Amino acid sequence: MFPSWWFLFQVCIVVSIAGIYYFFKQRKSLLTSIEIRSLERETNFARIKGFVGSVPKHRRLEILGLTVSQIHEKYSKKTLTCEDVLASYMGATLEAHNKTNCVTMFIIEAISRSKELDRNMKNSDFKNVLIEMPLYGLPISIKESSKVKGYDQTRGYARELRNYAREDGVMIKQLHKAGAIPFVLTNVPQSLLTITCVNPIYGTTCNPYNSSRTCGGSSGGEAALIATGGSIMGIGSDVGGSIRIPAHFSGCCGLKPSSIRLSHLGVVGSVPGRPLICASEGPMAKNVELCHLLSKTLFVEELSNLDPYVPPINWRENLYTNKKPLRIGFYIDDGWFLPTAACQRAVKIGISILEEQGHKLVPWTPPRVSDAYCMFIGGAMVDGGSYLFWNFVRDIIPQEYYSLFKISPYFKISSLYSMEHISIAQTL
Ligand SMILES: *[C@@H]1O[C@H](CO)[C@@H](O)[C@H](O)[C@H]1NC(C)=O
Ligand SMILES: *[C@@H]1O[C@H](CO)[C@@H](O)[C@H](O)[C@H]1NC(C)=O
Repeated sequence: MFPSWWFLFQVCIVVSIAGIYYFFKQRKSLLTSIEIRSLERETNFARIKGFVGSVPKHRRLEILGLTVSQIHEKYSKKTLTCEDVLASYMGATLEAHNKTNCVTMFIIEAISRSKELDRNMKNSDFKNVLIEMPLYGLPISIKESSKVKGYDQTRGYARELRNYAREDGVMIKQLHKAGAIPFVLTNVPQSLLTITCVNPIYGTTCNPYNSSRTCGGSSGGEAALIATGGSIMGIGSDVGGSIRIPAHFSGCCGLKPSSIRLSHLGVVGSVPGRPLICASEGPMAKNVELCHLLSKTLFVEELSNLDPYVPPINWRENLYTNKKPLRIGFYIDDGWFLPTAACQRAVKIGISILEEQGHKLVPWTPPRVSDAYCMFIGGAMVDGGSYLFWNFVRDIIPQEYYSLFKISPYFKISSLYSMEHISIAQTL
């Protein structure tokens, strides 16, 4: 008879070996999934290249030079087809991708949709069509975490590969209703909670102006694609800067609307079941006019039929065009985290533009910023970070995250995401 400690020791050894074996087996299967995806992605891109090639390059360049109203005018005169517009933007997206690695997958169904729109246009009065469908025949890019039927929303986790959406999310349905053609899915950082754009499946998306810098995140693929001219507008989402930061880093426009102004149904978020801090879907575009067009089209009463959380309020154009002077608070430094000179300058330029338009600008000091930040982190990780922690532990963590977590992936993730371990205010 062995003493029981010897038996326990053996059990521990067996369990550890089994654990290590399981870990490596799991890792191998994740790496295989990633390899399969990269092949699928090549096939997906090859298919699109074929489609793009069907329209001559000079014709595509001509189309890329048109504004939205010019495109619509040509649609109404039947001198342009949705299919050609789609091919032009898909071609530009391939080039943008070559430069920044911003695309995860193209939405192949966009091709048949453009053909369907062309058929519908043949026997209709386009002026009336445009009133109901203001985005008719316009290609629109979509952040990867949005549910599009038949595509997976990995959020950069290899474990989530092949977990395909069975139907479109509410915003995608609404875009279809408005006549748009969602045509491409764009890259995000693993977990959606960093302001870079890197994951082990699709790699790193880089800044359009300098490939050694980040495009920002988490709607980073969107920003890089729009800033590089591959897409004129798209839908991103924002909890703590995920539209605003990449728009700022890469050079495009973006709007984070109030929470639930647009529907979050059918978008896979960073941490599920988070009641305190909600993500907002929002428009990103080449310029403010297009953000306006997208907002005007999507902020509609009928959205509340698809998602009961959305208030039934239409876009109020009169508030947008109203020239009444406003009283606007501003700050250049929040007293806690000094912005770079370029950021400060951007705010100052903004101030002078608004003042020129007759608005009253009032300096304002936000109170207790470090406390607010701690509350934000606490609210964003209501489970103390355990959901994220296990997601990372069971997945492949990109090399780039190691430096973010500094000491070891294990230690820093737990400290970064768990309010129990450490206060963010102390670390910064
Ligand atoms: C990608 O860009 C490089 C450099 O501009 C160019 O040589 C190459 O042909 C491009 N590849 C594709 C597939 O467009
Ligand atoms: C790109 O960024 C790197 C790293 O910050 C910098 O060293 C380099 O000079 C930049 N290149 C250009 C063309 O600005």
